[in-house]
Amino acid sequence: MKSRFSFEEMKKNQDKITMVTAYDYPSAKLAERAEVDMILVGDSLGMVVLGYPSTIHVTVDDMLHHAKAARRGAPNTYTVVDMPFMSYHVSLEDSMKNAKTLFQQTGAQALKIEGASAEVVQLTSRLTSAGIPVVAHIGLTPQSVNVLGGYRVQGKEKDTAKRLIEEAVELEKHGAIAIVLECVPKEVARLITNKLSIPTIGIGAGIDCDGQVLVYHDIIQYGVNRVPKFVKPYGDVNHSIKQSISSYIAEVKAQTFPNDSYSFTIDEHELPEGKL
Ligand code: KIV
Ligand code: NA
Repeated sequence: MKSRFSFEEMKKNQDKITMVTAYDYPSAKLAERAEVDMILVGDSLGMVVLGYPSTIHVTVDDMLHHAKAARRGAPNTYTVVDMPFMSYHVSLEDSMKNAKTLFQQTGAQALKIEGASAEVVQLTSRLTSAGIPVVAHIGLTPQSVNVLGGYRVQGKEKDTAKRLIEEAVELEKHGAIAIVLECVPKEVARLITNKLSIPTIGIGAGIDCDGQVLVYHDIIQYGVNRVPKFVKPYGDVNHSIKQSISSYIAEVKAQTFPNDSYSFTIDEHELPEGKL
Protein backbone atom coordinates (compact mmCIF):
# COMPACT_ATOMS: atom_id res chain seq x y z
CA MET A 1 0.00 0.00 0.00
CA LYS A 2 1.31 3.44 -0.93
CA SER A 3 1.49 6.19 1.69
CA ARG A 4 1.30 9.98 1.61
CA PHE A 5 5.08 9.96 1.27
CA SER A 6 4.88 7.75 -1.81
CA PHE A 7 2.71 10.44 -3.35
CA GLU A 8 5.08 13.27 -2.43
CA GLU A 9 7.88 11.19 -3.89
CA MET A 10 5.88 10.68 -7.07
CA LYS A 11 5.38 14.45 -7.29
CA LYS A 12 9.13 15.00 -6.99
CA ASN A 13 9.82 12.43 -9.69
CA GLN A 14 7.04 13.77 -11.90
CA ASP A 15 5.49 10.33 -11.83
CA LYS A 16 1.80 11.16 -12.28
CA ILE A 17 -0.62 10.03 -9.58
CA THR A 18 -3.78 8.31 -10.80
CA MET A 19 -7.00 8.39 -8.85
CA VAL A 20 -10.43 7.07 -9.73
CA THR A 21 -13.65 7.04 -7.77
CA ALA A 22 -15.20 3.75 -6.73
CA TYR A 23 -18.36 3.23 -4.75
CA ASP A 24 -18.75 -0.49 -4.28
CA TYR A 25 -17.06 -3.89 -4.22
CA PRO A 26 -16.79 -4.72 -7.94
CA SER A 27 -15.76 -1.23 -9.05
CA ALA A 28 -13.09 -0.98 -6.36
CA LYS A 29 -11.85 -4.48 -7.14
CA LEU A 30 -11.39 -3.62 -10.81
CA ALA A 31 -9.74 -0.30 -9.97
CA GLU A 32 -7.27 -2.14 -7.74
CA ARG A 33 -6.68 -4.74 -10.41
CA ALA A 34 -5.91 -1.92 -12.88
CA GLU A 35 -3.33 -0.69 -10.34
CA VAL A 36 -4.69 2.80 -9.82
CA ASP A 37 -2.66 4.71 -7.20
CA MET A 38 -5.59 5.99 -5.15
CA ILE A 39 -9.30 5.32 -4.88
CA LEU A 40 -11.75 8.05 -3.96
CA VAL A 41 -15.06 7.08 -2.44
CA GLY A 42 -16.47 10.41 -3.55
CA ASP A 43 -19.78 11.86 -2.55
CA SER A 44 -20.40 12.03 -6.30
CA LEU A 45 -21.90 8.62 -5.53
CA GLY A 46 -25.04 10.57 -4.66
CA MET A 47 -25.51 11.48 -8.29
CA VAL A 48 -23.73 8.60 -9.99
CA VAL A 49 -25.15 5.59 -8.16
CA LEU A 50 -27.99 6.93 -6.01
CA GLY A 51 -29.60 9.15 -8.65
CA TYR A 52 -29.80 12.35 -6.62
CA PRO A 53 -29.59 15.68 -8.47
CA SER A 54 -26.53 16.82 -6.46
CA THR A 55 -24.17 15.75 -3.70
CA ILE A 56 -26.04 17.64 -0.98
CA HIS A 57 -28.36 14.69 -0.31
CA VAL A 58 -25.56 12.34 0.68
CA THR A 59 -25.32 11.34 4.35
CA VAL A 60 -22.56 9.94 6.56
CA ASP A 61 -24.45 6.62 6.52
CA ASP A 62 -24.44 6.58 2.71
CA MET A 63 -20.69 7.18 2.72
CA LEU A 64 -20.13 4.41 5.28
CA HIS A 65 -22.24 1.94 3.33
CA HIS A 66 -20.37 2.55 0.06
CA ALA A 67 -16.90 3.06 1.50
CA LYS A 68 -17.01 -0.22 3.42
CA ALA A 69 -17.96 -2.08 0.25
CA ALA A 70 -15.23 -0.32 -1.76
CA ARG A 71 -12.65 -1.15 0.90
CA ARG A 72 -13.60 -4.82 0.73
CA GLY A 73 -13.01 -4.70 -3.02
CA ALA A 74 -9.69 -2.87 -2.82
CA PRO A 75 -8.09 -3.62 0.55
CA ASN A 76 -4.60 -2.87 -0.80
CA THR A 77 -5.22 0.50 -2.45
CA TYR A 78 -4.86 3.88 -0.72
CA THR A 79 -8.43 5.01 -0.25
CA VAL A 80 -9.78 8.48 0.41
CA VAL A 81 -13.35 8.97 1.63
CA ASP A 82 -15.34 12.18 1.20
CA MET A 83 -16.96 13.79 4.20
CA PRO A 84 -20.45 14.57 2.91
CA PHE A 85 -22.48 17.78 2.95
CA MET A 86 -22.93 19.37 6.38
CA SER A 87 -21.06 16.59 8.18
CA TYR A 88 -18.23 19.05 8.90
CA HIS A 89 -19.90 22.46 9.16
CA VAL A 90 -22.13 22.34 12.22
CA SER A 91 -19.54 22.43 14.97
CA LEU A 92 -15.92 21.42 15.29
CA GLU A 93 -16.96 18.76 17.77
CA ASP A 94 -19.54 17.21 15.42
CA SER A 95 -17.06 17.37 12.55
CA MET A 96 -14.46 15.49 14.59
CA LYS A 97 -17.05 12.88 15.58
CA ASN A 98 -18.19 12.34 12.00
CA ALA A 99 -14.59 12.13 10.83
CA LYS A 100 -13.82 9.56 13.52
CA THR A 101 -16.78 7.43 12.40
CA LEU A 102 -15.85 7.63 8.71
CA PHE A 103 -12.17 6.99 9.32
CA GLN A 104 -12.53 4.18 11.86
CA GLN A 105 -15.41 2.29 10.31
CA THR A 106 -14.15 2.34 6.73
CA GLY A 107 -10.44 1.85 7.38
CA ALA A 108 -9.74 4.57 4.81
CA GLN A 109 -6.29 6.12 4.60
CA ALA A 110 -7.54 9.73 4.43
CA LEU A 111 -10.68 11.85 4.39
CA LYS A 112 -11.44 14.62 1.91
CA ILE A 113 -13.16 17.88 2.77
CA GLU A 114 -14.17 20.71 0.45
CA GLY A 115 -13.28 24.36 0.67
CA ALA A 116 -10.85 26.60 2.46
CA SER A 117 -12.98 28.61 4.86
CA ALA A 118 -11.45 29.40 8.26
CA GLU A 119 -13.48 26.48 9.69
CA VAL A 120 -12.26 24.01 7.09
CA VAL A 121 -8.66 25.13 7.53
CA GLN A 122 -8.99 24.71 11.30
CA LEU A 123 -10.58 21.29 10.85
CA THR A 124 -7.75 20.26 8.53
CA SER A 125 -5.26 20.95 11.25
CA ARG A 126 -7.37 19.35 14.00
CA LEU A 127 -7.89 16.16 12.00
CA THR A 128 -4.22 16.03 11.11
CA SER A 129 -3.14 16.33 14.71
CA ALA A 130 -5.66 13.64 15.64
CA GLY A 131 -4.00 11.33 13.11
CA ILE A 132 -6.50 11.59 10.28
CA PRO A 133 -4.82 12.62 7.02
CA VAL A 134 -6.80 15.22 5.07
CA VAL A 135 -7.09 15.66 1.33
CA ALA A 136 -8.25 19.19 0.53
CA HIS A 137 -10.53 20.11 -2.39
CA ILE A 138 -10.77 23.62 -3.85
CA GLY A 139 -11.94 25.32 -7.03
CA LEU A 140 -15.36 24.00 -7.92
CA THR A 141 -16.62 22.46 -4.69
CA PRO A 142 -19.91 20.73 -5.58
CA GLN A 143 -21.28 20.76 -2.02
CA SER A 144 -21.40 24.56 -2.37
CA VAL A 145 -22.96 24.58 -5.84
CA ASN A 146 -25.90 26.63 -4.61
CA VAL A 147 -23.57 29.31 -3.25
CA LEU A 148 -21.25 29.23 -6.27
CA GLY A 149 -24.27 29.59 -8.56
CA GLY A 150 -23.64 26.54 -10.71
CA TYR A 151 -21.03 24.08 -11.88
CA ARG A 152 -18.54 26.43 -13.49
CA VAL A 153 -14.84 27.08 -13.77
CA GLN A 154 -13.32 28.80 -10.72
CA GLY A 155 -10.36 31.18 -10.64
CA LYS A 156 -10.66 32.75 -14.09
CA GLU A 157 -9.85 36.29 -12.97
CA LYS A 158 -6.74 37.69 -11.31
CA ASP A 159 -8.37 38.08 -7.88
CA THR A 160 -10.12 34.71 -7.82
CA ALA A 161 -7.00 32.97 -9.13
CA LYS A 162 -4.95 34.64 -6.42
CA ARG A 163 -7.43 33.49 -3.81
CA LEU A 164 -7.20 29.89 -5.01
CA ILE A 165 -3.42 30.00 -4.74
CA GLU A 166 -3.64 31.43 -1.22
CA GLU A 167 -6.16 28.78 -0.21
CA ALA A 168 -3.90 26.00 -1.46
CA VAL A 169 -0.92 27.37 0.44
CA GLU A 170 -3.01 27.74 3.60
CA LEU A 171 -4.33 24.18 3.40
CA GLU A 172 -0.85 22.77 2.88
CA LYS A 173 0.40 24.78 5.83
CA HIS A 174 -2.34 23.29 8.01
CA GLY A 175 -1.48 19.71 7.17
CA ALA A 176 -3.36 18.69 4.02
CA ILE A 177 -1.54 15.75 2.40
CA ALA A 178 -2.84 16.46 -1.11
CA ILE A 179 -5.23 18.83 -2.77
CA VAL A 180 -7.88 18.24 -5.39
CA LEU A 181 -8.26 21.09 -7.88
CA GLU A 182 -11.61 20.93 -9.64
CA CYS A 183 -12.50 23.02 -12.68
CA VAL A 184 -9.61 25.43 -12.51
CA PRO A 185 -7.83 26.97 -15.52
CA LYS A 186 -4.73 24.92 -16.27
CA GLU A 187 -2.45 27.92 -15.86
CA VAL A 188 -3.69 28.50 -12.30
CA ALA A 189 -3.42 24.77 -11.51
CA ARG A 190 0.18 24.84 -12.76
CA LEU A 191 1.04 27.80 -10.50
CA ILE A 192 -0.45 26.01 -7.49
CA THR A 193 1.27 22.74 -8.37
CA ASN A 194 4.65 24.45 -8.61
CA LYS A 195 4.13 26.32 -5.37
CA LEU A 196 3.20 23.34 -3.18
CA SER A 197 5.23 20.39 -2.00
CA ILE A 198 2.09 18.27 -1.52
CA PRO A 199 0.62 16.80 -4.70
CA THR A 200 -2.21 18.43 -6.61
CA ILE A 201 -4.79 16.12 -8.13
CA GLY A 202 -6.75 17.70 -10.92
CA ILE A 203 -10.17 17.17 -12.40
CA GLY A 204 -10.76 19.70 -15.13
CA ALA A 205 -7.52 21.38 -14.08
CA GLY A 206 -5.17 20.60 -16.93
CA ILE A 207 -2.12 18.51 -17.61
CA ASP A 208 0.31 20.03 -15.10
CA CYS A 209 -1.28 18.75 -11.90
CA ASP A 210 0.68 16.05 -10.09
CA GLY A 211 -2.17 13.63 -10.56
CA GLN A 212 -5.59 13.25 -12.13
CA VAL A 213 -8.92 12.02 -10.81
CA LEU A 214 -12.02 11.06 -12.76
CA VAL A 215 -15.37 9.57 -11.85
CA TYR A 216 -15.42 5.82 -12.54
CA HIS A 217 -18.75 5.84 -14.36
CA ASP A 218 -17.61 8.74 -16.56
CA ILE A 219 -14.44 6.90 -17.63
CA ILE A 220 -16.34 3.81 -18.73
CA GLN A 221 -19.66 5.54 -19.63
CA TYR A 222 -21.80 3.55 -17.27
CA GLY A 223 -25.26 4.92 -16.59
CA VAL A 224 -24.24 8.49 -17.31
CA ASN A 225 -25.67 10.61 -20.06
CA ARG A 226 -24.09 14.02 -20.36
CA VAL A 227 -20.46 14.28 -19.24
CA PRO A 228 -18.62 17.55 -18.57
CA LYS A 229 -16.00 18.94 -20.98
CA PHE A 230 -13.10 17.70 -18.86
CA VAL A 231 -14.18 14.06 -18.97
CA LYS A 232 -12.67 11.77 -21.55
CA PRO A 233 -14.66 8.55 -21.88
CA TYR A 234 -12.32 5.61 -22.29
CA GLY A 235 -15.00 2.97 -22.71
CA ASP A 236 -18.69 2.46 -23.45
CA VAL A 237 -20.17 0.16 -20.89
CA ASN A 238 -23.67 1.60 -21.47
CA HIS A 239 -23.65 0.02 -24.88
CA SER A 240 -22.35 -3.36 -23.80
CA ILE A 241 -24.73 -3.61 -20.82
CA LYS A 242 -27.72 -2.65 -22.91
CA GLN A 243 -26.74 -5.13 -25.60
CA SER A 244 -26.25 -7.96 -23.10
CA ILE A 245 -29.59 -7.37 -21.39
CA SER A 246 -31.41 -7.06 -24.72
CA SER A 247 -29.93 -10.35 -25.91
CA TYR A 248 -31.02 -12.04 -22.70
CA ILE A 249 -34.56 -10.72 -23.12
CA ALA A 250 -34.67 -11.78 -26.76
CA GLU A 251 -33.51 -15.33 -26.00
CA VAL A 252 -36.02 -15.79 -23.19
CA LYS A 253 -38.81 -14.60 -25.48
CA ALA A 254 -37.58 -16.88 -28.28
CA GLN A 255 -37.34 -19.80 -25.83
CA THR A 256 -33.72 -20.42 -26.70
CA PHE A 257 -32.55 -19.69 -23.16
CA PRO A 258 -32.07 -21.64 -20.99
CA ASN A 259 -31.20 -24.54 -23.27
CA ASP A 260 -29.76 -27.78 -21.89
CA SER A 261 -26.28 -26.32 -21.43
CA TYR A 262 -27.78 -24.09 -18.76
CA SER A 263 -30.18 -26.63 -17.20
CA PHE A 264 -29.95 -29.53 -14.75
CA THR A 265 -31.19 -32.89 -15.98
CA ILE A 266 -31.92 -36.33 -14.57
CA ASP A 267 -32.57 -39.65 -16.29
CA GLU A 268 -36.13 -40.03 -17.49
CA HIS A 269 -36.59 -43.17 -15.28
CA GLU A 270 -35.86 -41.14 -12.15
CA LEU A 271 -39.01 -39.12 -12.73
CA PRO A 272 -41.90 -40.04 -10.41
CA GLU A 273 -44.59 -41.98 -12.27
CA GLY A 274 -48.33 -41.96 -12.30
CA LYS A 275 -50.71 -39.25 -11.41
CA LEU A 276 -49.26 -36.78 -8.96
O1 KIV B 1 -16.94 13.09 -5.26
C1 KIV B 1 -16.10 13.10 -6.18
O2 KIV B 1 -16.16 12.29 -7.13
C2 KIV B 1 -15.03 14.09 -6.11
C3 KIV B 1 -14.09 14.17 -7.27
C4 KIV B 1 -14.78 14.80 -8.43
C5 KIV B 1 -12.85 14.88 -6.91
O3 KIV B 1 -14.94 14.79 -5.15
NA1 NA C 1 -16.72 14.81 -3.78
